[in-house]
Amino acid sequence: MQIINNSRSDAPYKRKIKIHSKIERDKDGKMQLSWQTLHNLEKEYGDSFFILDLRQFETNYKEFLQGFRSIYPNTNLGYSYKTNYIPKLCQTVHSMGGYAEVVSQMEYDLAVSIGVPPTRIIFNGPLKQQEDLENAILAGSIVNLDCLEEVEMVEALANRLPEQKIAVGLRCNFEIDTTRISRFGFDVAAGELDQAFQRLTELNNCTVDGLHCHISTSARSTESYSRRTQKIIELTDYYFKEKQPRFIDIGGGFYGKMTDDLKSQFDGYIPNYQEYAQAVAPQLKSKYPGDSGPELIIEPGVAVVSDVLNFAAKVVGLKTVRSRQIALVVGSVHNVKPTGTDKNLSLRVYRDEENSAQRKLAGPVDIVGYTCMEHDCLYKDYPGEIGIGDYTVVENMGAYTVVFKPPFIRANPPIISYDSIQDEYQLIRRRETSEDVFSTYIL
Ligand SMILES: Cc1ncc(COP(=O)(O)O)c(C=O)c1O
Repeated sequence: MQIINNSRSDAPYKRKIKIHSKIERDKDGKMQLSWQTLHNLEKEYGDSFFILDLRQFETNYKEFLQGFRSIYPNTNLGYSYKTNYIPKLCQTVHSMGGYAEVVSQMEYDLAVSIGVPPTRIIFNGPLKQQEDLENAILAGSIVNLDCLEEVEMVEALANRLPEQKIAVGLRCNFEIDTTRISRFGFDVAAGELDQAFQRLTELNNCTVDGLHCHISTSARSTESYSRRTQKIIELTDYYFKEKQPRFIDIGGGFYGKMTDDLKSQFDGYIPNYQEYAQAVAPQLKSKYPGDSGPELIIEPGVAVVSDVLNFAAKVVGLKTVRSRQIALVVGSVHNVKPTGTDKNLSLRVYRDEENSAQRKLAGPVDIVGYTCMEHDCLYKDYPGEIGIGDYTVVENMGAYTVVFKPPFIRANPPIISYDSIQDEYQLIRRRETSEDVFSTYIL
């Protein structure tokens, strides 16, 4: 299947360019943009765009995984496609040895299309259709079943192909002192996991290879990771008495790196990579002290991707309505907060200081977007100066942004990848056209 458009007509977009605007990094490794760099990029790519920091993604991937591997070497990372499925990121994960963690056939197709072998795909999620589930199992993917209906699908497959060896994983649902009752996986306390095991092991040609859990909590605390690890080890002790599991998968949901002003908006402590590794990996190490323990799988999305994308939008309009000062940018709150988070964005304004004829406003200014919605405000009461031709840049845009953005009112901006070692920019998603948006409708 070829779902990425690699046709000839895209060839002009694929060249890598140098615009003599090397982006330096600060002491924390963050990209240091400037008005001139953004202006040069505008000339090439238009007045709004995402900038992907591929090297930062690689750094995060290595650091996060290394934290776990330094304690429990048999750890692997499955990157959560849903968090940000920019194919360039997914390809990078594959080239670094990671699994593709997918939750739909659409994401599965993407993984295959960029060259990930099925054996390096983990298929999770609550909805797998019979054909998709069967194909994934037969191709050797790790398929973590979520409910008894999926057990039935496996039974149908096993009975139809009695000579075929079938292996699956099971997602467990247990309490770890959270207020929300999760809808995912087999309810351990109610005996659903037991039922699933029983039914699958009654099939002569089916094995359960491992256990999975993913529990999203608002605090994302290290304690919750200690607890889920302890629980899943207890369950493997119980269900894998004769033979240890092939894998133990503790899911994702970890915090990523963030700017200080974003951090200050969270009530609780924001653990770092090492602290998460410390909450999980020593428990596996003490349970399996040798080299042949089960594979530990971690499935981060946010943790490795949140800080690798910035969104830049040019300031194109200024107005004052009674007491309210307003700056209009070529972007929208739907580009930067499509999930509707209540957190304020880390927004910086890059000023065109040398333009003396520039029209400008002195704060407080509301920085608003292109939609016709009153709520489309990217930043309320920006305190500094802002003028026509400046650029606003929102940081920490990597998680649940481009995958969530609907084609509301305006087509999507392009995504540019910056390679700081080669000092090269590459377009990795072209600007969408009206035709792209309307091409699936039928007149
Ligand atoms: C099964 C599974 N694994 C991993 C993730 C990634 O979570 P996050 O992006 O919060 O790390 C999710 C997100 O919902 C998930 O459902």
